[in-house]
Order: sequence, then C-alpha cells, then structure tokens
Amino acid sequence: EQIEKGGFEHFMLKEIYEQPEAILDTFRGRLKADEAIIKMAGVEDNMKRFLNADRIIVVACGTSWHAGLVSEYIFEDLARIPVEVEYASEFRYRNPVITDKDIVIAISQSGETADTLAAIKLAKSKGAFVFGVCNVVGSSIARETHTGAYTHAGPEIGVASTKAFTTQITVLTLMALRLARAKGTITSSEFRHHLIELELIPDKVREVLESNEYIKEIAASYKDSKNFLYLGRGYNFPVALEGALKLKEISYIHAEGYPAAEMKHGPIALIDEFMPVVVIATNKGHYDKIVSNIQEIKSRNGKIIAVVTKGDVDVRNIADHVIEVPETMEALTPMLTTIPLQLLSYHIAVMLGKNVDQPRNLAKAVTVE
Ligand code: G6P
Repeated sequence: EQIEKGGFEHFMLKEIYEQPEAILDTFRGRLKADEAIIKMAGVEDNMKRFLNADRIIVVACGTSWHAGLVSEYIFEDLARIPVEVEYASEFRYRNPVITDKDIVIAISQSGETADTLAAIKLAKSKGAFVFGVCNVVGSSIARETHTGAYTHAGPEIGVASTKAFTTQITVLTLMALRLARAKGTITSSEFRHHLIELELIPDKVREVLESNEYIKEIAASYKDSKNFLYLGRGYNFPVALEGALKLKEISYIHAEGYPAAEMKHGPIALIDEFMPVVVIATNKGHYDKIVSNIQEIKSRNGKIIAVVTKGDVDVRNIADHVIEVPETMEALTPMLTTIPLQLLSYHIAVMLGKNVDQPRNLAKAVTVE
C-alpha cells in the first residue's frame, strides 16, 4: 500500500497532487488549442441531438452533483442550453417531466451509484438521450448510457472525491465549449481564447499546489472550530458546496456551503468570532459584490479565509488569510479554486487524527439506495 501511495501519506493527498496530470489525461485526444479544435466522439456522433435538444438534465449524487452544478453555469453561459441539475435520488421518485427532446447527462465517478443508475433507466424509458460522464471504464453507468465521455482520472481510492471532480468539470467544460462553437453562441476568437486558457489549467493547478504549506498553517489555526461556512457566487457557488462537503466528509466538522448573497437570509445570524468563513473571491464575476459580502462578515467578527486571484488587493485588506490562485477566465476558475479547499479539509482531518482515506459511515460507491 505504501508503494501505491507513491510517497504520500494518504491516497487523498496523492490524488490531489495527481490533478494536473489527470486533467491532461482528460484533454488527451480531445483538446487541440493551437488548431482550435475540441473533439469528443460522443458529442460529434450525436451533434444533431445536442443541437436540437430543448434542455439538458444532469443527474448525479454527492460530489458528482456538484460538478453538474458547475456545468449548469458553463452550458447556460457559453452554449445557451437550459440546464437542470437533479439529485438522482429525488429525480427518480418525482415522476419528472422528461421527453425525447431532453438530453440527460449522468455524472458518476464509480459508474455504480444505484440512484444515478435508476435515474438513467427512468430517463431512457421516457425516450431521453442519456450521456454518461464516468471515470470507471466499463462500469454499469457507462454501459447503461447511450454514449458518453470518460474522465480518465485514473483510479481514485480516497473516499472523498478530488481528481474525479476536477476531471468531471474538465469533460463538461470541453462539451460546453464544443457545443457553444457548434451553436455559434460564442465567436471563434472567444472559442480559441477559452481553449488556450484551458490548456494552461494543469500548470496553474500545479502552481496552486505550491500553497500547500501555507494552507496547512491555516488548517492548524482552525482545526478546532466546530462549524465552517463556505461562500461563493456564480461559477464558484458549487465550489463552495464542494468545499463544505469535503470538510464534512473527512473531518466530521459541520460545514455549510451557501451562495454568498444568500448569507443575509439566514447564515449571517451564525457569524461571530468563532465562525471561520471560507470565501471564494476571484476577480471575475461579481467581484465587488463578494468584497461587500466579505465586509459584512468582517463587521460581525467572522474569521475570513479567502481564495483570491494572484495580486488581489481589496480582499487581502479585509480577510484574515488569503490563498492565491492564478488568473484565468471566469468559466475555468472552479478547476483552480477547488484545489485549496481540498487541501484545507485534508490537513484539518489529518490534524484531528481522522481516517482521511476511509471516513466513517461513507463508501466510495453507494450501490444500494
Ligand atoms: C459516494 C462517494 C462520493 C461520491 C458519491 C457519488 O457518496 O463517497 O465521493 O461523490 O458517492 O458517487 P459517484 O461514483 O456516482 O460519483
């Protein structure tokens, strides 16, 4: 097992560090930025269906559901396709309205999650076209879907999903960009620009990983907190949810993710000097608004850990800690902002002596309802 961990103390940490390579593997054969090409067989072969679709319904559970939420922003923003993101467990029992003009995207690392599998079967029975985004090759969901795209993240052993999440977002981003180009909802120069920026993401993830020691120091300061709040807006709202989930899963600390602007409708009542608030505040998309959200936390003595764009000044002046990520396009920020949150929960859990790779009560694949 020590050999499999490749010198890392835990699989989770190894998998966090594998992300630059995993994302490159996800690109392989699909992204050619210099030629302005994205090629994905499952999309090309069914392009007509995608172009004629009324909407996309994403079904998934857990972390994969969060990847689905990120994709809602990117499909709607870039490809102008309406998206609904559903918990598979709710969708399957709700008697949902599904037609043969719907495309269902099922996202699953393991490809074995019982609720997601059942949701796929239901969607197929109503005539929908089902596209799978799975990591495990030949898994039940990969076989049950009409077509799909593998994430190629490699085996993920840690129960808390890390590289599977970032590669799911990678696949969904490639799909959204390909469809945006086909639909003409972005110009060829915008398309090219996104591709060039996308290709730089693995190196930028590497750069974020260099903050590991600093994040460890932050973890040491907050490991005894009983509650955490995670806030983000837009593309980074789902990242806040995922950050909170990561902390809950492995450290057993209560954490909630919230859209930053919703804070005033409830969670703000919780804020005092004992409440660490992790805020994703990159410089694109509603930056000024998130700065004022951070001020609201500060004025109530909350402790602020902010994820910001390199060189940020405004948030640095208010926050207790800032973790920098390199600049990128708004749609691509989740692939960077997720990384420090993974490391933060990892270090807190290790410091609390928890079983990071196999947290209590959780399973890597939930094959029962
Ligand atoms: C379990 C795992 C999570 C995962 C979820 C969905 O709860 O512990 O890490 O996100 O199932 O799994 P899937 O394999 O469908 O992505």
